[in-house]
Amino acid sequence: GEIFVRITVLGLGYVGAVAAAALARDGHQVLGVDVDPAKVERYRRAEVPFYEPGLDELVREGVAAGRLRFALAGEVEPGQLGDFVFVAVGTPSRATGAADLSQVEAALAWVAERVRRGRPAGAGVLRAGEAVDPQGGAGSSDGVGAADRVAMAGTEATAGTVWPAAAGGLRAPIVVVKSTVPPGTGRRLARRYLAPLGLAYVANPEFLREGSAVHDWFHPDRVVVGSEERAAAERVAALFAGYGAPVLVTDTTTAEMVKYGANAFLATKISFINELANMCDRVGADVEEVARGIGLDPRIGSQFLRAGLGYGGSCFPKDVAALDHLARVYDYPFELLRAVIAVNARQRLLPLYALREVFGSLAGVPVAVLGLAFKPNTDDVREAPALDLIPLLVEEGAEVRAADPQAVERARAVLPGEVRLTPSALEALDGARAVVLATEWDAFVRLDWEEAARRMDEPRFVFDGRNALDPARMAALGFRYRGVGRGRQRLAEGRDAVVSSALDLPRGEVVGARSG
Ligand code: UDX
Repeated sequence: GEIFVRITVLGLGYVGAVAAAALARDGHQVLGVDVDPAKVERYRRAEVPFYEPGLDELVREGVAAGRLRFALAGEVEPGQLGDFVFVAVGTPSRATGAADLSQVEAALAWVAERVRRGRPAGAGVLRAGEAVDPQGGAGSSDGVGAADRVAMAGTEATAGTVWPAAAGGLRAPIVVVKSTVPPGTGRRLARRYLAPLGLAYVANPEFLREGSAVHDWFHPDRVVVGSEERAAAERVAALFAGYGAPVLVTDTTTAEMVKYGANAFLATKISFINELANMCDRVGADVEEVARGIGLDPRIGSQFLRAGLGYGGSCFPKDVAALDHLARVYDYPFELLRAVIAVNARQRLLPLYALREVFGSLAGVPVAVLGLAFKPNTDDVREAPALDLIPLLVEEGAEVRAADPQAVERARAVLPGEVRLTPSALEALDGARAVVLATEWDAFVRLDWEEAARRMDEPRFVFDGRNALDPARMAALGFRYRGVGRGRQRLAEGRDAVVSSALDLPRGEVVGARSG
C-alpha cells in the first residue's frame, strides 16, 4: 500500500508550485510555503500566479481535498515541517554568471532554525526521521535568525492556516533540494546548515519543462536523488516510485552535475543545429530535413534539433552560464560551452541582420514581432529572444508592435514604452511591412495568414525565427519568407545564398548583452 507523508515545499515558483500540487494529488499532505505574502494569498484562493497549463486545476483539486495548504514562511511552526522539506527557491544568475545561492541558504537556515526550536534543550544530534519531544523549546522565538527575519518580512501570523503540530512528537525532516545549484554546493551547505542537527540533505534535480510542467512531473524520464546518506536518498526516491521512472541514486555532487550536464548538453544540441542551419543558408540546404536526417540516428536523437533563434527561459541560459562560471573557478577552459553560449547570443539577432538587408535603414519601418514569451504555452519572458531583439529594433528606428497570447503584461515591464503590445497577432500585423515570428505559439502558426497578408504592407517580409511556417504557402500568399537554415528556399527565390550579405554575420559585434 501507499504511504502518505507530510511534506513542506518551500518556494512556490514553477517547480515548487508543481511539486506541491502534484504531491498533494499523490495523496500526501502538503504545505506550500513562500516569503511573498501576495503569492501565498493567491494560492490560498486556489489561484496560480503564473500561466502553466493544467496547474490551476491541480491546485484547486488539492485545496478542495484539504491536502494542499499554503503558509507564509514566518507562520510555519517547527511541528509543521513534516517528513520532507522540499526546497524549490530560485537560483538566479549573478552578473558574473555565478548562481546566486542566497535563497537556498536562507531556506536551509529557515529549516535548521525551526528544527532547533522544536527540540528539547540539550537534546543531542538526531538522525533524520528520529522522533523528538514536541514540547521542548517550542514557542521560543529567541532563535530567529537573519534568514528567518527575511522570510517573515511583511508577515502576520494567521492561526489555523497550517498543519497542526504532530501529536506524537516531531520528526527530523529530510531536506530535499530541487533548486538547481552548482555541483559541490549541496555538500558544502549540508555541512554548514544541516549536519550539526543531524538532518539529511538530498539533491533531487527537477527536469520538468515550463508549458508541460504538470505532465512532465508525473512522467519523468528518470528520478535522480543524490545524498551522502543513501537511506535518505532512497526515502525520497520512494515518493516517486509510482511514476515508473528509472531511479538513479548517487552522491550529492554527482546528482547536481547530472542537472547541469543535461541542460548544457541540450543547449549544445540547440547551438549545434543552429550552426548547421547557418551553414545550410550558405550552401543552400534545408536544415529541417538535415535535422530529420541526422535525428533518425538514435545515437543523435530527433529532439532538441529545432533550429531558430536559440534557447531562452529560466534554465538553459542561467545554468549554462553557471557551469561556465564554475569551470572558470576551477581554471578549466570549457571551450565547447563557451561556444554554445556565443552561438546562442548571436542567433537571436538573425532577424535584425535580415531586416537590415531587406530595408537598409529600419527608420520608420513598421515591424511586428510575434511572440514575447521564451517559448509557447508560458507567460515567462525570462531570456526570451524577442526581449533582446525588440530594443535593438527600436534603437534603429523601427516602429515596433508586438503580440503574445499570454506574456504581454510581463513583457511590458521590461520593454521600451513606445513598443505597442497586444495579445492579438492580427492587430500587431496591421500596417506592418515585416513580421518576425519569435515564438511558435499555435495561435501564430495557425493564424489566418491570408488576412495577415491583406493587413500588411509591402514587402510583407516574414522572418520565421522558429521555422514554424510553411515557406511555399507563405510565398503563395505574397509574403517574402525567410526561415533559419532553409537556404534551399533562398535558392528557389533565385537568390545567391552563398553571397548573402545578411547571413554574413557582422564580425566583432557585441551581442547577447542580456546573457546570463
Ligand atoms: C528546460 C529543460 O528542457 C528542462 O529539462 C529543465 O528542467 C529546464 O529547462 P524549459 O526551459 O521549460 O525546460 O524549456 P524547453 O522546452 O526545454 O526549451 C528551452 C529553450 O530551448 C526554449 O527557448 C526553446 O525555444 C529552445 N529550443 C528547444 C530550441 O531552440 N530548439 C529545440 O530544438 C528545443
